[in-house]
Amino acid sequence: MLRSRFITFWNATVQPDPLFSPLKLGALELKHRVVMAPMTRMRSAQPGNVPHALNAEYYGQRASEGGLLITEATDITPQAQGYRGTPGLYTAEQIAGWRAVTDAVHAKGGVIVSQIWHVGRISHSSLQPNGALPVGPSAVRPAGDHTNASGQSVPFETPRALEENELAGIVADFVAAARNAQEAGFDGVEVHGANGYLLDQFLRNGSNQRTDRYGGSVENRARLLLEVVDAVIAVLGAPHVGVRLSPWNGFNDMFDSEGEALWNYLAAELDKRDLAYLHVVEPRSDFTTDLPVNDSAPDAAGHFKAIFKGSLISTGGYVAETARAAVADTRAHAIGFGRLFIGNPDLPERLRIGATLTRQDRATFYGGDHRGYTDYAFHEDASLSCPA
Ligand code: PHB
Repeated sequence: MLRSRFITFWNATVQPDPLFSPLKLGALELKHRVVMAPMTRMRSAQPGNVPHALNAEYYGQRASEGGLLITEATDITPQAQGYRGTPGLYTAEQIAGWRAVTDAVHAKGGVIVSQIWHVGRISHSSLQPNGALPVGPSAVRPAGDHTNASGQSVPFETPRALEENELAGIVADFVAAARNAQEAGFDGVEVHGANGYLLDQFLRNGSNQRTDRYGGSVENRARLLLEVVDAVIAVLGAPHVGVRLSPWNGFNDMFDSEGEALWNYLAAELDKRDLAYLHVVEPRSDFTTDLPVNDSAPDAAGHFKAIFKGSLISTGGYVAETARAAVADTRAHAIGFGRLFIGNPDLPERLRIGATLTRQDRATFYGGDHRGYTDYAFHEDASLSCPA
């Protein structure tokens, strides 16, 4: 205790900590820049994919005064689902469940946005309404396997290409989820345009081989994402809307032959929209392993910053020193932490005082109960077990 007070005092007076200065991201008023990144945990209540008390406890534990939490990716419709147990935001029960989550976060002075997603082809017919094929921009099968509704690993199926006249419905589904997020008490939404899910599948020409207004040129491939962003802005207002992209990242079999032109166009287009923030996943990071990051990968935040003049959140493989450096040299306004927030519910406080961090247990990331979810200890609480 004495040690932590001393370090706090030292930091505040001698050397202001870049991570602990206030920040306004549109309508989101933050007191520090340690953001919880969106993370799939697959623990909604069944049937119905409903957030419940355990989820409210988890998010409430991770809330801090003026700290931003971004929820796990949340299905905008049953068709948007790609994994067992991911929560939705399209039924009254789900909205009520999320209301308990936002209440728990707000009770601690925290700020929370809902990450709204559609997985597109990263699903399986066993997870889809009426056993239909997953949908995508084109009938292009992602390489590899996927976990089906019974938990077995099976080859990906070739998705059904969405008809052009279905795309307005996808935009409307994002809008409905944004309205539901507002009703559930969220402070805003983050449109999931990253990591090889539906909007990213449209962006990249490895997965998008369309010949209509939504395929071909960079402008056409960006059309669906920008239509979704504009429609969500129209209901919530730009200061309540963030967007997440994963430039140059190959996760979920993403590939684009014109990467630089695509990212530059998106940065310029999103810059016109006065978003709360743009959130980039750094391509050096790999959230499927705990191996050290690949330092030779492109610097996404630095690249976007040259074109996008709004607020940037950068996520991917950060530790305390690299996060401080990224904010101090103005590459990013705030830093997203994923894994470290799993093992450390009080991560902002631990980073502030330089406390030891608990290592996260990868075996309990996806699905299950409170173990590896709400039973990680706070740094001064020896009564909770430390799984890792
Ligand atoms: C995942 O469940 O593997 C997942 C979900 C959302 C992401 C990335 C990965 O953005």
